[in-house]
Amino acid sequence: MRIDVITIFPNMFKAVLNESIIKRAQAKNKVKIIIHNLRDYTLDKHRKVDDRPFGGGAGMVMSPEPIFRAVEAIQARCRIKGKGLRIILLTPQGKQLDQKLAKRLSRYKNLILICGHYEGIDERVRQYLVDEEISIGDYVLTGGELPAMVLIDSVVRLIPGVLGKRKSLKSESFEGNLLEYPQYTRPANFRGMHVPPILLSGNHPAIEVWRKKAALKRTKERRPDLFKKLLKRK
Ligand SMILES: C[S@@+](CC[C@H](N)C(=O)[O-])C[C@H]1O[C@@H](n2cnc3c(N)ncnc32)[C@H](O)[C@@H]1O
Repeated sequence: MRIDVITIFPNMFKAVLNESIIKRAQAKNKVKIIIHNLRDYTLDKHRKVDDRPFGGGAGMVMSPEPIFRAVEAIQARCRIKGKGLRIILLTPQGKQLDQKLAKRLSRYKNLILICGHYEGIDERVRQYLVDEEISIGDYVLTGGELPAMVLIDSVVRLIPGVLGKRKSLKSESFEGNLLEYPQYTRPANFRGMHVPPILLSGNHPAIEVWRKKAALKRTKERRPDLFKKLLKRK
């Protein structure tokens, strides 16, 4: 997979993309992540990316020209077109990112992520350039960079071969609308707080049953909305 990010703050991505699993995924050539400075696609000497809103009002709006130029330049460079490519705008007004959406995105060959700033982006970008608008939650951040990093992290770990054990993905929260069962590690007795004895029994079928029950209980208590979906499926 190839992920192109268009931003006015390229440095924000350095720490996140150069650590841990995302770093290893790039080293293993599972994903190529390219950060583009939107200012490189401006046409004026001040490298201006925004302007005042038509009709008046507070704040500035990101201009369409550099964003269209950036996307067109990326499209011309990477040969993936049509169904393999998804152009995404990060916006609080978009569809909310969840595990199902991350899975779908992980199947594309190329994602282009556009990070907004200020009061937002000229509406023509949404209307004529973007395939999909994605939000990471019902709150407003100052820019699309953190949302883009959240999206990248959630998608890259789903690319086959990125995580060591594929099995660990199967039992993870939101798989089949279940939250994951509680996890414990050594010591078995920590300051008088004990690990459930079944997990120390070595009886793996019984452990599986315990985990399934614990996952159901947890989902019912914490996410009745997911639990309802689970019951419907049965
Ligand atoms: C201050 S916000 C603009 C909000 C806009 N005025 C509105 O009310 O919808 C600036 C940029 O941050 C990004 N952003 C903010 N919150 C976000 C969220 N929850 N999910 C995705 N992107 C977000 C978007 O790219 C947005 O264009």
